[in-house]
Amino acid sequence: MSEGTRILGIETSCDETAAAVVENGRRILSSVVASQVKLHAPYGGVFPEVASRAHVETIYRVVESALSQAHVGLESIDAIAVTRGPGLPGSLVVGLNMAKGLALASGLPMLGINHLEAHLYSIWLVQDEPEPAFPLLGLIVSGGHTELVLMQDHLTYQRLGGTLDDAAGEAFDKVARLLGLAYPGGPAIQQAAEGGDPQAYKFPRAWLEGTWDFSFSGLKTAVLREVRAQQPDLQAGVDAPRPGLPIADLAASFQAAVVDVLVGKTLAAAQAHDAQLVLVAGGVSANRALREAFQARAKIPVRVPPMALCTDNAAMVAAVGHWRFLAGQRDALDIDVLPTWPLEG
Ligand code: KG4
Ligand code: ZN
Repeated sequence: MSEGTRILGIETSCDETAAAVVENGRRILSSVVASQVKLHAPYGGVFPEVASRAHVETIYRVVESALSQAHVGLESIDAIAVTRGPGLPGSLVVGLNMAKGLALASGLPMLGINHLEAHLYSIWLVQDEPEPAFPLLGLIVSGGHTELVLMQDHLTYQRLGGTLDDAAGEAFDKVARLLGLAYPGGPAIQQAAEGGDPQAYKFPRAWLEGTWDFSFSGLKTAVLREVRAQQPDLQAGVDAPRPGLPIADLAASFQAAVVDVLVGKTLAAAQAHDAQLVLVAGGVSANRALREAFQARAKIPVRVPPMALCTDNAAMVAAVGHWRFLAGQRDALDIDVLPTWPLEG
């Protein structure tokens, strides 16, 4: 592979303020992530205005820390890669403006990066494993997205399908609320499911045969119906502990339904497209049941990034920046954020 780039990455698409320095798209020199989870927990989800304000307050310190922890100044950086979308408009703007300011002051090129693409490139940051080979199938499962994409080469994406309603992470977050568990819902459900029986409840799996799409809203409704059947006086949307509910069994059965469909459809798509490798990325790829099911059921290698690289970070943005910088991408400093930017092309 090509040698010699050092990219500063910046990420503010949702509720993490992050900056990182990555060498050659593979080696993390620094990766700083300031999480806003505590700020949003009282709301049971990300509160957009709170997120942008927190990004504004933190971004300088985070970028400075990333540079100082990497022991580099801007003079030894080749380009600034920044998440341009998809994400919360008010949050994206903070990172993009920071990148524009730095680019203007230093004369460095600035590259706008797709956040979903960045999640996939988190796998390139795992240095002790070989670089992923093409063609590969990518499953991106996060709070906002569930996407199946085929990659025939670097920076080329054929979108096969995605969720028609809730994203996988969103389903975890909503069902967690329903069960009275804390935000963020994914880790809370995983923990609650630990002692539970995944077959206690037969929750529906939306296979959507003939497509590579997903749907999780029916599953969410089925959990709601079961909870209501057991606690008829439940008020929807009110989070509170739910004494008497079999939380462990409900969480385990819900998680099993999500995992079943994600793993089943991803492996079928990989086979249908002759992929040599499956990459799983995004916040939900931190889920232990999902990781174990992929390893147990796949006949081709399945790679999932280490936990710290599953959730939002800027190292993955810098990793894409390396490849896009080599491909000649240079963005004008008047580009705008793209809050609904699809991963295609
Ligand atoms: O990629 P990410 O950090 O942010 C977005 O780009 O959305 O993903 C966050 C999502 C949340 O919905 C969170 O509940 C979910 O990832 N998540 C998990 C786990 N850890 C985080 N879902 C299931 N199991 C987990 N262990
Ligand atoms: Zn993400």
